[in-house]
Amino acid sequence: MRAQVVIATKFGVGRDAGGQQAQDSRPERIKQSVEGSLKRLRTDIIDLYYQHRVDPAVPIEDVAGTVKELIAQGKVKHFGMSEAGVRTIRRAHAVQPITAVQSEYSLWWRRPEEELLPTLEELGIGFVPFSPLGKGFLTGTIDEKTTFVSSDFRNIVPRFTPEARKSNLALVDVLRTIASRKQATPAQIALAWLLAQQPWSVPIPGTTKVARLDENLGAVAIRLTPDDLREIDRAASRITIQGARYPEQLEKRTGL
Ligand SMILES: NC(=O)c1ccc[n+]([C@@H]2O[C@H](COP(=O)([O-])OP(=O)(O)OC[C@H]3O[C@@H](n4cnc5c(N)ncnc54)[C@H](OP(=O)(O)O)[C@@H]3O)[C@@H](O)[C@H]2O)c1
Repeated sequence: MRAQVVIATKFGVGRDAGGQQAQDSRPERIKQSVEGSLKRLRTDIIDLYYQHRVDPAVPIEDVAGTVKELIAQGKVKHFGMSEAGVRTIRRAHAVQPITAVQSEYSLWWRRPEEELLPTLEELGIGFVPFSPLGKGFLTGTIDEKTTFVSSDFRNIVPRFTPEARKSNLALVDVLRTIASRKQATPAQIALAWLLAQQPWSVPIPGTTKVARLDENLGAVAIRLTPDDLREIDRAASRITIQGARYPEQLEKRTGL
């Protein structure tokens, strides 16, 4: 079944002296990473190889040039970037055309609409919205009383403090209203909204449960009319989302 699946993975992650995750897109590190991924994935080619975050210490032309070499060697099929700024995307694209950019995008994080999406459209690059369900919040299964296991990343996300959650539930109410009219779930409406934005976008909802995977796939069959979309936009624009999407240190690594 290898030909029926698209395998995407990322490079550009290393450790700093203190053992914390840090950007590392030095060419030698990228070459090392691809060998590790091919081995662990037990495949001979990666369909889409993304840089996880822009590494300010390595010129993007060197990164794109390294991926170009990997493509020439047949180890990688397509080049991608994640949470990159538009100027860096243009520079990289001039060396090795980019196939897809992955960035957070959902009803509670719409910053890509400002610069990123128009740039991708102009350059003909596909878009992969990550955390399309707002890390689970937009599904309506989380409220201010929900607790997460200690290793859960959401424990350090300002948008997930109990106070922020309580306030942000207003957005879930909007999704619930549309969902009940469409005989759908809030998760499906959140995904259908994304699918209605750009035909060249592929949201990647994450789940550990097969039933939810099926539920999420059901979003493809939901058609939101221009009236539905206007209603969602109008209602969402009246809600101010509380809390940052990332702790400050991690937000600083985006948009470079
Ligand atoms: N490029 C990047 O920097 C970056 C950053 C973050 C994430 N990502 C990628 O984006 C993808 C998904 O993002 P994400 O996991 O952060 O957020 P997400 O897809 O917005 O939400 C996932 C969460 O929602 C829950 N969920 C999924 N479907 C549900 C449903 N139908 N009903 C109720 N709960 C549901 C999941 O829990 P259960 O498992 O319990 O269902 C999980 O906790 C992953 O592939 C991830 O690797 C990329």
